[in-house]
Amino acid sequence: MKLKNFMQTVALFGLALVLVGCSNKKAGPQTDNSIKDIKKAKVLTVGTSADFESFEFPIVKDGKKEFVGYDMMLAKKIADELGVKLKIVNIEFPSLISELNNNKVDLVLSGLSKTKKREKAVDFSDSYYSVKNVLLVKKGDQDKYDTLKALAGKQIGAQQSTTQEELVKKKMPDANLVSESLVTSLATELANDKLDGVVLENATANNYAKKFSGKYAVAKVQLTDVKDVEAYSVAVKKGDKKLIKAVNKVIKQVKDSGQDGQMLKEAQELQSKYVN
Ligand code: ARG
Repeated sequence: MKLKNFMQTVALFGLALVLVGCSNKKAGPQTDNSIKDIKKAKVLTVGTSADFESFEFPIVKDGKKEFVGYDMMLAKKIADELGVKLKIVNIEFPSLISELNNNKVDLVLSGLSKTKKREKAVDFSDSYYSVKNVLLVKKGDQDKYDTLKALAGKQIGAQQSTTQEELVKKKMPDANLVSESLVTSLATELANDKLDGVVLENATANNYAKKFSGKYAVAKVQLTDVKDVEAYSVAVKKGDKKLIKAVNKVIKQVKDSGQDGQMLKEAQELQSKYVN
């Protein structure tokens, strides 16, 4: 009798183990090794398109090229949170998401707006910065371009694969869209009269208008509804939930402590000191 009881207990225990094993396997289709892999490599590899002052841009400091800016400061904080070094890889904007999904980088930090379309390919963090779209024009043209109609037949630039490119297609069907892979090239072409305007976000456009006040200005035209803002977010590979959690923790800390204002100020200082 006793032996029978014992055997039953053993059998039940075994069954329980099997069941636990099964349910564990069912917990996730793929194990999330996002943080484990970064810690193993001892480095967080971040992809960015460094053509975007004050968020990501190159400087030469003590003879060494570095990528700096608001996003890069955020990247450093994420690396610190994970206790690893930071490596920044400069990738042209149109290739950022595919390079992330090809495992070339662990995350993308590049003034990247969270969109429904991109959410099919990557996972996004909470948003860390909000912007609106505006039209950067040559100084003196700001009143000339006061409505969307006034842009018909004009050469309007936008960075390739961005939300700005989509906006030109949608809102300015009568304008000639000129897509380029770098924002810096678009700004040069605008200054050289190859373009009539460039769609940018207010943070970036104001930066050009302030830095080169004799060259550029923000046009009067209102491109979107007042409530239409874009939310910059960090992108990770689909399923990298643990990494997103760590990123969101850092974003929350930055917001709650009010460090974001200081970070932007620091980025602008670096810009005026090292970029001409
Ligand atoms: N926010 C826009 C987008 O997500 C433009 C981002 C451009 N970023 C850059 N580093 N050039 O499409």
